Amino acid sequence: MKKKPGSEKKALDSVSAAKRFFCKSSKELLFEKVGKIIRTIPTPSLTTKKWFQKSYVLGPEQNDFLYGRDVFYITEGRKLFLDTTSGHYQMTWGYDHPVLMKNLQQALKAGVVWDCHSNIPGFFVKKLSEKLVEICNPETDLKSIQNNDESLNTVLLGIATGSVACSTSMKIAINYFLKNKPGAKKVVFVSLKGNYHGTDFLMQRLRGMWDFVFSENLIFEMVEPNDINELRNIFKKHKKNVAAFFFEPVMMNREAILLNTDFIQEARTLTASVDALMIVDEIQTCCWYPEIFMYKQFGIMPDILILGKGLTAGFHPLSAIVYKRKLDSLKQYDAISTNGNAPLPSFMALQCLELIEKNLQKIAGLSTYYEKSLRELAQEFPDIVVSFRGKGFLSGIKFSSQQIALQFHRKCIERGIWLRVHAYYEGHSTALTKFALCVTKDVIDFTIGSFKRIIKTL
Ligand SMILES: Cc1ncc(COP(=O)(O)O)c(C=O)c1O
Repeated sequence: MKKKPGSEKKALDSVSAAKRFFCKSSKELLFEKVGKIIRTIPTPSLTTKKWFQKSYVLGPEQNDFLYGRDVFYITEGRKLFLDTTSGHYQMTWGYDHPVLMKNLQQALKAGVVWDCHSNIPGFFVKKLSEKLVEICNPETDLKSIQNNDESLNTVLLGIATGSVACSTSMKIAINYFLKNKPGAKKVVFVSLKGNYHGTDFLMQRLRGMWDFVFSENLIFEMVEPNDINELRNIFKKHKKNVAAFFFEPVMMNREAILLNTDFIQEARTLTASVDALMIVDEIQTCCWYPEIFMYKQFGIMPDILILGKGLTAGFHPLSAIVYKRKLDSLKQYDAISTNGNAPLPSFMALQCLELIEKNLQKIAGLSTYYEKSLRELAQEFPDIVVSFRGKGFLSGIKFSSQQIALQFHRKCIERGIWLRVHAYYEGHSTALTKFALCVTKDVIDFTIGSFKRIIKTL
């Protein structure tokens, strides 16, 4: 099929024009223009989505992404949005971050490659693995950690997406289970109702899909988040057959439910009592808290920590798992991406982690400020907003009904405030945000002010 001559070039011209618009505009001007069409940017040539799978074609082309800067982006139809969700929860430092982009240009100029064979990992891949171990064990010297079977000291980095990282941790749990419980007839995985550990076959089974495909030897149990009694009952029922317990600290795919420390600590006790693994999926939460990994807030040590998404600040693809050496059982091609060792994404991950470390106090201050502002907003409208959900930047507000939540979402999008809503299952009615870490106080105030004006119209 012939393609229109120069259409990619035209697309690049539109992107450049959008970039120039952002470079020239003050914050005040951007606030003023949120939700409006920016006519000074030439109309880009729209490209069709008709070759995509049906479920992926959600709206007209003009709503699709053209260019983003900081927490703002512009669509192909040239409408300006304020993005309160960091892309799809992965652009840790927002779009086109000046420091990250400058460092990226430098790395490219120096010749750092995008990818290489997984047998010959580059400097940055090795460096990142050490950095992740360091963050997990800040108080201990690295030499003693390596010989300690019980510390988080082993990193599997050659994984592309979070889904594969999650399923990798399940493979490790099964290996550990088979080695330590040789007579067991059934393997049980426990997770939380409403979980989301990705799109891999087994990860979807973990949330209840594909029931008819699986044998009765592989059992998946789900418990209500924060229901300690239900968790205890599941462990009592299956005892040593439990292989692992999976959880996400903030359930961004279930109305931003925050897990309680009591619940997590009990889960740690229960898993230890039957020699099952505790697997924490931090694909959403890693990099969004001053501790970098949120499991630290619960005062526990998991057996496997899963990282992804924000790790490279959206520079795809790179996920990782960090786990205890005693669990190191997979062979080379058991769980990697075959185009696999990604020096440049590893470099970007190191830059992202460095930015977080340099801005710890700012991140702590602003995420507390955002949470406080959102809590106050919820309290101001007790008839409409039932509660605040989540923690820090990973947070939302639960509305009194599905219909109101959907209305709120629709009005936000109309006015150029991009956010997500969970209101498609019975009982779900929460609007969700996850600001990029480059957010500033004026953006938070503008957003909360816009939410307030919209809630008043509901
Ligand atoms: C908690 C959690 N786990 C796993 C995944 C899957 O990651 P990926 O989409 O990179 O496969 C996601 C994706 O949103 C997630 O939020």
